[in-house]
Amino acid sequence: TEYETILVERKDRVGLITLNRPKALNALNTQLMNEFVAAAKEFDRDPEIGCLLVTGSAKAFAAGADIKEMQALEFAEAYLSDWFTAWDELGRLRKPIVAAVAGYALGGGCELAMLCDILLAADTAKFGQPEIKLGVIPGIGGSQRLTRAIGKAKAMDLCLTGRMMDAEEAERAGLVSRVVPAGELHDQALAVAQTVAGMSAPAVLMLKESVNRAFETTLAEGVRFERRLFHATFATADQKEGMAAFVEKRPPSFTHR
Ligand code: HXC
Repeated sequence: TEYETILVERKDRVGLITLNRPKALNALNTQLMNEFVAAAKEFDRDPEIGCLLVTGSAKAFAAGADIKEMQALEFAEAYLSDWFTAWDELGRLRKPIVAAVAGYALGGGCELAMLCDILLAADTAKFGQPEIKLGVIPGIGGSQRLTRAIGKAKAMDLCLTGRMMDAEEAERAGLVSRVVPAGELHDQALAVAQTVAGMSAPAVLMLKESVNRAFETTLAEGVRFERRLFHATFATADQKEGMAAFVEKRPPSFTHR
């Protein structure tokens, strides 16, 4: 498929999507949203792909939703078209998504990063929800996912003042899993995605589903859900292979079955 606002590549079992509107610091306009979601869904359906990787440029992961596109928007159009609703589809993908963030991840850019499952930041990364400075509020889940990720104190501070937080603060707050030197971000993020993509696909999907369940249910229900999926892993060939490989002191060769 031909895309204009993103670059799409395959690296073995990793599906790489690079945001590519450099002149607008990868601002997320409607075309980019639609192209991104279409490409991500295609990778999600593709049995040859085990993990997605999303990245931007050295200067910006994404500087937010496209302010110039939204400027003249009226309530009725925003409401009737359910503006930004396509982004919700990303949260329903079954394969893990790694986000590699360098530079600005603001507004919708921060929200896109939070829609991903593993968040790696370069030491140049800057996160924020500056919508308040434009007279609006986050619209792609920022007030919800940021609060769940870093708690009320920091979420209120960031959302109400619109200030940016650097990579170190983001890691301390629990928004990102690792901070790496900017020059190493691409290789390290690809290595993480390759590692995940090499694991048993059924186990990987069950794991993502199980971790996400922690946000949707009680602890007792969540543990029960995990236990059922754990039992189900014993129906896979990969469980037999993974455990045989351990006992035989060799690396496993998963067939994703
Ligand atoms: C449209 C954008 C943009 C955006 C940057 N640009 N961010 N265009 N939408 N979100 C454009 C600029 O207009 C400029 O275009 C070019 O990209 C380079 O940006 P500069 O501002 O010149 O770069 P710099 O001085 O380095 O400053 C970088 C920055 C700043 C600090 C990231 O661009 C910035 O504050 N951007 C807006 C961040 C923001 O408010 N995001 C939240 C958006 S609302 P020209 O043509 O002049 O070269 C949102 C959610 C909305 O995301 C949901 C609820 C409605």
